[in-house]
Amino acid sequence: MLLFRQCRGLARVGLLQTHRPPPPKQLVPPLSVWAGGLCARGGSGGRHDSGARDHGHPPDWRHLFAAVLAGGGAVLVHGLLGSQAQQAATDVQPPGKNLPLPIYTQEEVAKHHSSAKGVWVTYKGGVYDITEFVSLHPGGDKILLAAGGALEPFWALYAVHNQEHVLEILSQYKVGELREEDRMLDSSSLDPYAKDPPRHPVLSVNSQKPFNAEPPTEILTDNFITPSAFFFKRNHLPVPQVDPSVYRLEIQGLPGGTVSLSLEDLKSLFPKHIVTATLQCAGNRRSEMNQVKQVKGLNWGIAAISNATWAGPRLRDVLLYAGYKSGGKAQHVHFEGLDKDVTGTTYGASIPLGKALSEEGDVILAYEMNGEELPADHGFPVRVVVPGVVGARNVKWLGKIVLSEVESSSHWQQNDYKGFSPGTDWDTVDFKSAPAIQELPVQSAITWPAEGAVLDHSLGEVTVKGYAWSGGGREIVRVDVSLDGGKTWQVAKLQGREGEASDLSPQPGRAWAWKLWELSAPLPTGTQELEIICKAVDSSYNVQPDSVAPIWNLRGVLSNAWHRVKVKISEH
Ligand code: MTE
Repeated sequence: MLLFRQCRGLARVGLLQTHRPPPPKQLVPPLSVWAGGLCARGGSGGRHDSGARDHGHPPDWRHLFAAVLAGGGAVLVHGLLGSQAQQAATDVQPPGKNLPLPIYTQEEVAKHHSSAKGVWVTYKGGVYDITEFVSLHPGGDKILLAAGGALEPFWALYAVHNQEHVLEILSQYKVGELREEDRMLDSSSLDPYAKDPPRHPVLSVNSQKPFNAEPPTEILTDNFITPSAFFFKRNHLPVPQVDPSVYRLEIQGLPGGTVSLSLEDLKSLFPKHIVTATLQCAGNRRSEMNQVKQVKGLNWGIAAISNATWAGPRLRDVLLYAGYKSGGKAQHVHFEGLDKDVTGTTYGASIPLGKALSEEGDVILAYEMNGEELPADHGFPVRVVVPGVVGARNVKWLGKIVLSEVESSSHWQQNDYKGFSPGTDWDTVDFKSAPAIQELPVQSAITWPAEGAVLDHSLGEVTVKGYAWSGGGREIVRVDVSLDGGKTWQVAKLQGREGEASDLSPQPGRAWAWKLWELSAPLPTGTQELEIICKAVDSSYNVQPDSVAPIWNLRGVLSNAWHRVKVKISEH
């Protein structure tokens, strides 16, 4: 329905004719034609699918174009240029291709920076007058941020988009060429992602800008602790550059007023609390939902989950130090990141105050991951770790904590990371009607063997490996494995960290880390193919649903059906 809705929106734009003389037909097709093309591409139009504030409710047609022009264009400049896009870029044609277009200086373009003076933008040496577009489609506030200047850095910020059609739309508005010497030669200096940290090449990348990647399945469960370099990375925005010597964490909403703490304060004023906790993205295993019906979001496999040891002060201790007194009206704790989008909006989320204050909740302000300084991708210098709670609330690059009567108003708290019925589509979804995801449901997946693997018949045995985890500190008490598509089941052996009983038998309600599991069993005879399935049971006897369709939802979150892997058995 999202696609339908987008198509409809675009078609409406096609009906809105402006005063502009119509461009020659063969060069610039009507917008409704572009709309068809855009929609035919499987929903990559409009708000892009994985970047900043891109998830959630569908844009109406104005916001769709606003996003396309100001934020949704993407990949144009910085390394993600596919050949198609390259082609499209060179294909941008003005209406009246053969007529020479006037040359403008950057200074002249810069004068057109408001609706009153006209809204001009530049892109790859072309000058575009988008005044009519802005006046016809109010709400494109992000477009105005680009007025009088270059589109490239805005599009670079939202770097997951198919440009071909975006460029076609833009071509309609071309009015001139930018003077040669005013063209941006080094667009990389404008790339907000240019300072992102280096990453390990083994990661399977879902999107480069913002960076989103998961480790290869075959190494995910080779160790109880995931090395930080392989820990899945989920960024909505560029990684902010934070100087630890001037870093301050502000705490607001307390009776005594704002408290500001340095990194050194966090390290020296409070006991260091160490927690081993698994983080899982709400979109883990989204690709399986996509196989049922297209959803909106990054196409995560089974590895948007990892396990690390985190260290830092308890949030509880910091709040008490900052003057928290019980009996107030606050019910939620907001976290604000230092990562920002073009409008200056920061990433944010909130958790219930009770979780933050509970000694057993183990919420910490982590400055260490796996015994070392927090890596840039994971929130340097400080992130909140909220064990048992969806990754989205574990805010990285933490800049501000606010105690409040209400939940965070952040897009990611209000209009994303919520679950809906399979019957809810983008036309009917009401984000206010569903609670923000906090504790995640019980989960497990098979990491070995891989889908399509060929098992050696002569070995006579198969070893199946995987992970299991549940939200809210609920311990995994059993993992069942079937080698015959669910007809018969065997119980897998659960493993914690080697030599650490506490990881296998955590305190009740505080099982924050995953359990790895393994089952070795004789290869069934008389068959050349196995369907291996796993399903976990947590300490509340919650079980995973057997199939995806009944839990399908338009954002592809909370995907925790039985995990199935088909393998072949070699005949010799
Ligand atoms: N915090 C900030 N400031 N910005 C972000 O984009 N992403 C969130 C969360 N915290 C995010 C953030 C999401 S959706 C997830 S799943 C986790 O971080 C991922 O943490 P990781 O990258 O350390 O694995």
